[in-house]
Amino acid sequence: MIAKINEYIAEVEAFEATSAASLEEFRIRFLGKKGVLTELFDEFKKAPVEQKKEIGQALNRLKTAATERVSTAREQMEAAADANAEKSDLSRPSLTLPIGSRHPISQVRRQVVDIFSRIGFTLSDGPEIEDDWHNFTALNLPEYHPARDMQDTFFIQTCPDILLRTQTSSVQARHMEKNQPPIRIISPGRVFRNEAISYRAHCMFHQIEGLYIDKNVSFADLKQTLQYFTQEMFGKSKIRLRPSYFPFTEPSAEVDVYWGLETEADYRITKGTGWLEIMGCGMVDPNVLRNVGIDPDVYTGYAFGMGIERMAMLLYQIKDLRLYFENDVRFLRQFSEVL
Ligand code: DAH
Repeated sequence: MIAKINEYIAEVEAFEATSAASLEEFRIRFLGKKGVLTELFDEFKKAPVEQKKEIGQALNRLKTAATERVSTAREQMEAAADANAEKSDLSRPSLTLPIGSRHPISQVRRQVVDIFSRIGFTLSDGPEIEDDWHNFTALNLPEYHPARDMQDTFFIQTCPDILLRTQTSSVQARHMEKNQPPIRIISPGRVFRNEAISYRAHCMFHQIEGLYIDKNVSFADLKQTLQYFTQEMFGKSKIRLRPSYFPFTEPSAEVDVYWGLETEADYRITKGTGWLEIMGCGMVDPNVLRNVGIDPDVYTGYAFGMGIERMAMLLYQIKDLRLYFENDVRFLRQFSEVL
């Protein structure tokens, strides 16, 4: 009888289920009511007492082997069925992952950079932690120059020569030190000022600086470039240049774009004038060129600088500067379709 049981054990161990039906057949054959095991247990009852222990143990081994074989084969079949279902059901809808969107500041930055790169400007950038020379002195703002007060600066306490740049104009100075004209660069970046945070001021914001230096660059070139820019950016090319003062340009101007007075919003954002100030600009001061090793008798150029938050505010009618930096998805989601 032992030999018979061992044969069955070998059969159980060799069994491979080829289908659900063959597995069920196997289960009934061994574990069913009238199956092999029932039959053997009946036979076992009649076995001589001295053989009972050995036969009993062998029977138990057979029973465990058959039960385990059935359950592992069943698990394997279920797993295979799952995998198959995943592979073949091509009509199942995919998971919709929220893909997010670009921040409005990034969108506007990309748009401005794109507009200028179409007319030959290339990107140049500089560090946010800057030294006094590049942020101020080289740009015609020597120590004690009253115009330094226009930009409340964060200094590094232990090292008064190091500061957080207050303007991306610092990149002008860096770029001109390392490159000779012709120079045509656009420099977007973060700037910092020690301002109390409110709906219209922040201690961190973004600017884009532009610089063009070559032989015979004139104020007319500047005006043409600005007109091209406002047309591409806002669809408006009527601009005016109001005389202004910046230490690094002479003459200097503020650029206003004619926004129009068609809607109530136009009245509100232009304070009833139809005009909107969008940036500062001017012809690069000969002192700046001299400071960075470019001969002002040979070369001239223009520069301009604008705030990205302000551009985005005008484009999307955003009224509170703080919204840009709070990462409220309800605000950010509104920009997923723009541009
Ligand atoms: N750096 C100036 C600011 O932060 C903006 C600016 C004005 C940049 C005139 C220029 C410029 O290059 O010519 O207020």
